[in-house]
Amino acid sequence: MKVLILGSGGREHALAWAVARSPRVTEVVCAPGNGGMAKMARCLPVNVDSLDSMIQLAEAERPDLTIVGPEVPLSLGIVDELQARGLRAFGPTRAAAMLESSKGFAKRFLQRHKIPTANYAICNNQAEVEKAIDIFHAPIVVKADGLAAGKGVIMCPSRATAIEAAEGLFSGKLLGTVERQVLIEEFLEGDEVSFLCLSDGKHVTPLVPSQDHKRIGEGDTGPNTGGMGVYSTDALLDPAMREWILRHIAEPTVRGMAEEDTPFVGVLYCGLMMTARGPQVLEFNARFGDPETQAILVRLESDLVEALEACIDGRLADTALRWRQGASACVVASSGGYPGSYKKGLPITGLEAAAQLPETVIFHAGTALVDGQTVTSGGRVLGVTATADSLEEALARAYKAIKEIHFEGMYFRHDIGHRALKKKS
Ligand SMILES: Nc1ncnc2c1ncn2[C@@H]1O[C@H](COP(=O)(O)OP(=O)(O)O)[C@@H](O)[C@H]1O
Ligand SMILES: [Mg+2]
Repeated sequence: MKVLILGSGGREHALAWAVARSPRVTEVVCAPGNGGMAKMARCLPVNVDSLDSMIQLAEAERPDLTIVGPEVPLSLGIVDELQARGLRAFGPTRAAAMLESSKGFAKRFLQRHKIPTANYAICNNQAEVEKAIDIFHAPIVVKADGLAAGKGVIMCPSRATAIEAAEGLFSGKLLGTVERQVLIEEFLEGDEVSFLCLSDGKHVTPLVPSQDHKRIGEGDTGPNTGGMGVYSTDALLDPAMREWILRHIAEPTVRGMAEEDTPFVGVLYCGLMMTARGPQVLEFNARFGDPETQAILVRLESDLVEALEACIDGRLADTALRWRQGASACVVASSGGYPGSYKKGLPITGLEAAAQLPETVIFHAGTALVDGQTVTSGGRVLGVTATADSLEEALARAYKAIKEIHFEGMYFRHDIGHRALKKKS
């Protein structure tokens, strides 16, 4: 069977790696892929922001299964388009992907179905923003309604900063695109957990939980990034809490989407804040997370392709997933200067030595293969990922591997997993 993976990040490399391990898969095609995927699969150019470009490629390749990595193609309706052409695709339809592509839609949905989330107001203009801010008090969270590649959420310590942030979103000054709706949210305190589930539209199967590190600086300081590292261990959620989240958040979401005639098939990523009043939904993503996927898939012992096909065929209830016990950790190596501007095209050394270490996989994100040499091509360059019997060992393995790797200006956080380690001691 031939599998097409759309996307070019660390998430997609991890998907390609997991798919290639399936005994049923004879060919993996990545589009556009990256330097790491180019070493294991055929990579083809595509523009994942253009339906036409993706459709043309899928028509030419006729894959047996397409897995959609990023959110933009899902929000454009790539799964609807592929299905209309008789091509099997894993991911939600355009209507179901609204859970991610419109934060306003998601908030109203959560409220309709009484699923715990921060109090909020959806504002159409600046006057409504000011009214809402008076109700919530500072600190306040201001959010763009639409997809913003992680740049649409602003934490505001005061009324004045919140007003300014909303103005920036409405005017287009902040994101470059004009927002027609802005969300004002109550500020929640707690630890964040990424709770990813597979759904076939009716049944929900959780994947192992993980915790991302969004900030560039150690101790969770500095600006937000796409994610600087992640770890996964079952200890992140005790069995009772996991069950509670399943019963009160993930299952009602999938049930609600089905009731509203937009069944959700794909990965339902619940971004949760574990607050004193229980878990609250910060947001949904309608796809695998990056870098969560790297840490999750290295723990998956079952056949990923089987599981994704079970979602498409509506038989997830009969499919059990097996996991490596213990833990995994993924440390992201980024370009110097990221999330600001950075150099590209810098040669990377030590990849082979690092990959030979036990239970270690180097997932590429912003890399390219140029005349046989792997070079940097993006902000987040690599996700150095390892598994072990304990989180401490998984982290030690990932950090040992990252020390083998070098490129000019390479940066990584030395404190991935610090919250879990602190809790233990
Ligand atoms: N209501 C909130 N209270 C506190 N922090 C929040 C709140 N909403 C979002 N955040 C923080 O902002 C980050 C990004 O927000 P999120 O809604 O996940 O948007 P996106 O991932 O689309 O940028 C979250 O991971 C969380 O750290
Ligand atoms: Mg998020």
